[in-house]
Amino acid sequence: MRLLIDNANLELIKQMYEYYPVDGVTTNPSILAKEKRPPFEVLREIRKWIGPEADLHAQVIARDAEGMVTDAERICRELGENTFVKIPVNREGLKATKLLYAKGIRVTGTAVYTRMQGWLAGKAGASYVAPYVNRIDNLGGCGVQTAKDIHDMLRKNNIACDILAASFKNSQQVQELALYGAGAATVSPDVMEGFIRNTTVDSAVDAFISDFEGLTSPGMTMAAL
Ligand code: E4P
Repeated sequence: MRLLIDNANLELIKQMYEYYPVDGVTTNPSILAKEKRPPFEVLREIRKWIGPEADLHAQVIARDAEGMVTDAERICRELGENTFVKIPVNREGLKATKLLYAKGIRVTGTAVYTRMQGWLAGKAGASYVAPYVNRIDNLGGCGVQTAKDIHDMLRKNNIACDILAASFKNSQQVQELALYGAGAATVSPDVMEGFIRNTTVDSAVDAFISDFEGLTSPGMTMAAL
């Protein structure tokens, strides 16, 4: 499962890249708004820092299909190779996805709350569809199950599209989808930091170091022996 950072703050992105095995960055208009700077300035900086090989996802704003296509073309011109254009999966978005697929522009179908949206976006030519796991849970549904079902619908119908599960609130949701073989997950830095935070592990490591220092001397390491 590919792992992406759902954030547009370059300092946070750098920190996540330093510590975690990540494959790229996803943004949405609300995430960009938090940076309080011109959107393309922020996105270009992210692209420059993560490099041309990493995945970068940026969303269109226009409401009609033709406008979405024009937005998508600008996004790709600005951000280059390995850019995925996020298109909301509604009626206009499906039309735009078909048009963009014909132009060879890769689409991530976003704002996905239902299995039907996921299947339709995949069939229209999206490379990824993004079920909003936590937001589905908040509506009384089961986000993880919806994501799994979309994954199955795509596979069983031989549709060359993966899920890019989004909107997570905890490690368990991400872990369950990794176990299921989901294509990708995008996770906010705070949820990603929770993947590995574990005081029991910290205690075990402390005990090993303390025993070693008892054997040798305080502050001693293998290299310093
Ligand atoms: C990503 O594509 C989504 O826009 C994002 O994950 C939504 O997350 P939120 O529900 O935490 O806003």
